[in-house]
Amino acid sequence: MTCRLDAAALPPQPPRAAAPLPAALDWIADDLAALRAEGLERPHRVRSGRQGREVDLDGQTLLNFGSNDYLGLAGDVRLTKAASRAACAEGFGAGASPLVSGHSQAHELLERALANLLAVDGALTFPSGFAANTATIAALAGPDDVIASDARNHASIIDGCRLSRARIGIYPHRDMAALDALLAQSGSVRRRLIVTDTVFSMDGTVAPLADLCELARKHRAILMVDEAHATGVFGVRGSGLVEETGCADGVHVRVGTLSKALAAAGGFVAGHADMIHWLRHKARAWIFSTAHPPAVAAAATLAIGLLAEGPHRRRELLERAAGFHERLSRSGLDVAGATTQIVPIIVGSAGGAVAVSTRLAEAGLFVPAIRPPSVPEGKSLVRVSLSWHHTADDVGRLVSTITSILSDRADS
Ligand SMILES: Cc1ncc(COP(=O)(O)O)c(C=O)c1O
Repeated sequence: MTCRLDAAALPPQPPRAAAPLPAALDWIADDLAALRAEGLERPHRVRSGRQGREVDLDGQTLLNFGSNDYLGLAGDVRLTKAASRAACAEGFGAGASPLVSGHSQAHELLERALANLLAVDGALTFPSGFAANTATIAALAGPDDVIASDARNHASIIDGCRLSRARIGIYPHRDMAALDALLAQSGSVRRRLIVTDTVFSMDGTVAPLADLCELARKHRAILMVDEAHATGVFGVRGSGLVEETGCADGVHVRVGTLSKALAAAGGFVAGHADMIHWLRHKARAWIFSTAHPPAVAAAATLAIGLLAEGPHRRRELLERAAGFHERLSRSGLDVAGATTQIVPIIVGSAGGAVAVSTRLAEAGLFVPAIRPPSVPEGKSLVRVSLSWHHTADDVGRLVSTITSILSDRADS
C-alpha cells in the first residue's frame, strides 16, 4: 500500500512575520531574538512519508537516528490496517472524555491488553503520556505531601509535581543516598511520593529500581515510575524495566506511553484495580479531556500483541545498542553512563550541539541537537535513538562520522 498526502493541496505557508506583532505581544520579538542569540531557536521541520530506517525531513532523506520508534513499528502497515478497521467500526473522533462517552470498545480492549502485558489488575489510558504523568501525580499528591523527584525526570513529571502543589524535593540523578536523606527529613506529612523515569529520555541511563523499592518501603512512600522509553524494549514480555528487574511488587504506580516503541499515541497508568478506579474520579486529564481516537487505541493494542510475537526485535535492538556503546567508548567518546537504546553524545554549548547535528545531516544522518531546557545549561548534546531497523553498517557509519566531526572541532 503506497499512499502520499497531496502536498499541492496545502495552502501556501504564510510569509514569516508578514505583519508586525500587535503591541500587547511585541515582547515576543525580543524573546525570539534572545533565543536565536543563545543558539536556542528551534527548527520547524516537515516530515513526509513514512518513517523507518530513513526519514524525509524538509525534502532531505536522512538515516534516522532521531525517532523514538525503537521497534521500527511507526511505518508498519499492520498498525495502519488495525487503525483503519477500528475507524471503520467506531468512526474517527472519540467525541467526548472517557468519563462521558469517549471510552470506546477499542479503548477497553487496549486497557485490558495493557493490564495483561504489565501483569497488573487494571490500566487507564490518556490522550498522551504527558497527560498521564501530570494527571496521575497531581491526583496522588497535594499540598500536605512531599514528592521526591529525580533531577533528570521528564518535563511531564516536573509539571505534574508543580501542579500537585506538594513540597517538591529534587534529588541528584540516581543518587540513592540523597533520596534517603531527603525522605528522612520530610517530617510528618500526609503522603510521600517518589517519582522517576525508568529509562531517562535524554541520558539513556536507567533508574536503580531495586534500591528505589527498598527506600519506598523504608519511608512508607508511594513509588511511581515512568516507563515511557522502556515499554516494548525491556523485559521478557516487553513490558519495561520493572519487569526486567523483577521489581513489580515494590512499584505501586506504572505510567507509560503508547507513542514510542508501540508506535501509536496516548499514555497509560497501570496498577491496583482500586487505584485505577480511584483515578477515574481524580485524574483531571482523564475526566476533562477528550479520549484519543479509537483507531489510535486499536493500533496500540495491535502493537502490544506484536510484542508477544516478536521478542527478537527488542533483543536485536539491545544487542545493537551494546555494540554501539562499545564502539563509542573505543573511540574515546563519553556517553555519560548511557546503557540503553538512547545514547547522548555530550557537546557542551547549545550552538556546538546544533553545529554537530547540522554536520551530521550534511553527511546524511539525522541526529537531533538537544538543548536547554531539555538538558542542563552547558550540557547540550546530540541524542542518538537506535531503532530495530538500524544495521551494523548504519551504526558503524554513525560512529565514524561523529568521531570525525568531533575531532575536527577539537582541532579547530
Ligand atoms: C519519560 C517521558 N515521559 C513521558 C513522555 C510523554 O509522552 P507522550 O509523548 O506520549 O506525551 C515522554 C515523551 O517524550 C517521555 O520522554
